[in-house]
Amino acid sequence: TDQTPISREDRVEKLKGVGSQRKRVEDARFTQGKGNYVDDIKMPGMLFGDFVRSPYAHARVVSINTEAALKVPGVLAVLTAADLAPLGLHWMPTLAGDKQMVLADGKVLYQGQEVAFVVATDRYAAADGIEAVEVEYSELPVVVDPFKALLPDAPVLREDLEGKMVGAHGPRKHHNHIFTWEQGDKDATEAVLAGADVVAEEMVYYHRTHPCPLEPCGCVASMDKVNGKLTLYGTFQAPHAIRTVVSLISGIEEHNIRVISPDIGGGFGNKVGAYPGYVCSVVASIVTGKPVKWVEDRMDNLMTTAFARDYWMKGKIAATKEGKITGLWCHVTADHGGFDACADPTKFPAGFFNICTGSYDIPVAYLAVDGVYTNKAPGGVAYRCSFRVTEAAYFIERMVEILAIELGMDAAELRRINFIKADQFPYHSALGWEYDSGDYHTAWDKALAAVDYEGLRKEQAERVEAFKRGETRKLLGIGLTHFTEIVGAGPVKNCDILGLGMFDSCEIRIHPTGSAIARLGTISQGQGHATTFAQILASEIGLPADSITVEEGDTDTAPYGLGTYGSRSTPVAGAATAMAGRKIRAKAQMIAAYLLEVHDNDLEWDVDRFVVKGAPERFKTMKEIAFASYNQAIPGLEPGLEAVSYYDPPNMTYPFGAYICVMEIDVDTGVHEIRQFYALDDCGTRINPMIIEGQVHGGLTEALAIAMGQEIAYDEMGNCKTGTLMDFFVPTAWETPHYTTDHTTTPSPHHPIGAKGVGESPNVGGVPAFSNAVHDAFRAFGLRQSHMPHDHWRIWKIANGLGLHG
Ligand code: CDP
Repeated sequence: TDQTPISREDRVEKLKGVGSQRKRVEDARFTQGKGNYVDDIKMPGMLFGDFVRSPYAHARVVSINTEAALKVPGVLAVLTAADLAPLGLHWMPTLAGDKQMVLADGKVLYQGQEVAFVVATDRYAAADGIEAVEVEYSELPVVVDPFKALLPDAPVLREDLEGKMVGAHGPRKHHNHIFTWEQGDKDATEAVLAGADVVAEEMVYYHRTHPCPLEPCGCVASMDKVNGKLTLYGTFQAPHAIRTVVSLISGIEEHNIRVISPDIGGGFGNKVGAYPGYVCSVVASIVTGKPVKWVEDRMDNLMTTAFARDYWMKGKIAATKEGKITGLWCHVTADHGGFDACADPTKFPAGFFNICTGSYDIPVAYLAVDGVYTNKAPGGVAYRCSFRVTEAAYFIERMVEILAIELGMDAAELRRINFIKADQFPYHSALGWEYDSGDYHTAWDKALAAVDYEGLRKEQAERVEAFKRGETRKLLGIGLTHFTEIVGAGPVKNCDILGLGMFDSCEIRIHPTGSAIARLGTISQGQGHATTFAQILASEIGLPADSITVEEGDTDTAPYGLGTYGSRSTPVAGAATAMAGRKIRAKAQMIAAYLLEVHDNDLEWDVDRFVVKGAPERFKTMKEIAFASYNQAIPGLEPGLEAVSYYDPPNMTYPFGAYICVMEIDVDTGVHEIRQFYALDDCGTRINPMIIEGQVHGGLTEALAIAMGQEIAYDEMGNCKTGTLMDFFVPTAWETPHYTTDHTTTPSPHHPIGAKGVGESPNVGGVPAFSNAVHDAFRAFGLRQSHMPHDHWRIWKIANGLGLHG
């Protein structure tokens, strides 16, 4: 028996379990350039494929001539829709129940759309081949405005759907209409609006933007014709789902497909869906018998893969004179681009937008969302957000600010009056959710005290007076946000993607010497899963986190899972990890009982060992038990120590937070300076506080980008104006302010260790905090609503429009 005298505290410390600031184990390779990304994969004889893309946003493809291209040295093949059609692969299903052209089939619907796939010996030869492909287009009228797309005489975008008046999500009202999704009680809400003391009404636009991960999307397809096995490496946020989809559309049996997500350089929703590049690489590998790589460049990524947001949100919010909110009405016009490729659970065509009642106890609400086709790139992905939660949080946090203006009230006080109270949880929202836990008042009071809210308001009022006296040209904005997220999809009964229920999984093998490997159905893209999931296990099974390898992303070895997006890893796979750990512990208890010659029930768990109750000197450590499981024949027990858990969460988790941004704005230049940013997050039990802080810093910086400059913009002809990093704002250390992070801890009552997700919270809560600061700076001068992004020019225009330039 291992009798090393070591205190209980030291034993806990040694595990580096839940709550420990364990250093990220993956950083050794990332910081030394030793990561293994898709583009690092080089296989013997590997070819490279790339796309001929449409310069037009809407055009008929009259002809494609590949003759000259095929003569370019190094070019081996050029695929067009005509080549894919006999295989039925010229179109592919989207995650939203629509279908999308893999290669232009008669027409193109957005600039940059894939027209032909050139396969060559290397990237340079492919580029030369692309130049030599001759495509004749005949231009068609372009629609980039979703409201104009729904006019009776708007051009028909999707000719393939002509006459089809029912889509994947019910009836279609117009040839460019995709679906209407309604939630809540329309009549009751309209009755409340009609009789209310005060109704604030506004159009809130959340502009089109893009996740823009550092590493763009890509794959390597390798068809082994001898064994009939397809290996597909790729930047996939959901490798198992990709395997199933590839099997369904290619007809290759699923056991003959191995999908591997190696290291991924950021996903943020961009790498959830399936792209034409994947299909074409697989086909090209089958045709040539060689591995084929396809990796986007930055322009391909920004212009053609999964955009985010683009929601026009018309809102009406009703309240009493005293500021008690009595009802919320919302209509969204959702611009989905040329194909509906939104990544949402099947039953939720607008994702979880119906969390738009936010942190507030709103008795009655109604929501309708209309999806619309335009000549823009497809997507509608959850850019660091849980399926349109970001849009919902922005909407409600703007509506509350506008209501405060309407009521002449302080916006912090208005929120406080309307928060769901701690004793109302589990709380049933008017739009159908059951919030698991929360304590909003405590978080709010802590946040307001931390920034000296009263003092800030006094300073702001003095600033306004000084501005009016001509003593300063800088205004002060106080951006408030209290957001509630909904993360961790499942449960399976409500949530599926392409019919695949949204559970997740973990499989654990304990080795004889007391170390372990855990494999999960999720895949890290930088979040640090190898660090934190080992911590969950360390606390559950009493082996040090440093002795546990966490592996994800290889469908031949990992248990089936739905992947990582929507902050679902901790709520779902994290729960599976804890549950699998508990199965290990249950068997370990039986082994320990046998070794100690006592009944199972005479043992109790203590950090890393089972101890005989009342006899603390008699115990077996987990390390000893692990060895025994392989070297002793224990009556009634199979050898070995392994477990697997497929976890179907009973509910989602509802993290929340209180963010405050203090911003100085120069009225003459529109230049802003973030003086202070305070972020309080409550994600329940905190697994690794250091990783949480990193997640919050990163998410806030993306929120800063979105609110203050980042956009995918089009001109009237459908030209994408922001297809490079010269035009698309990605903040550097220069623009990034200092963030102060804080927390409260309200555990989830249904998660095995009480943890909620956190990865997306800062993006969800950060955007309204930045935007509200801009609006608040001009509140005293009559500003109600101005569309993001608030770049310097647009802020200057606000000041100019309000007559502040004299
Ligand atoms: O699904 P995704 O990994 O993007 O999001 P997440 O589940 O919110 O987790 C992001 C990172 O934060 C992971 O490394 C988690 O283990 C960690 N985390 C934590 O330490 N404590 C929590 N309560 C939630 C997440």
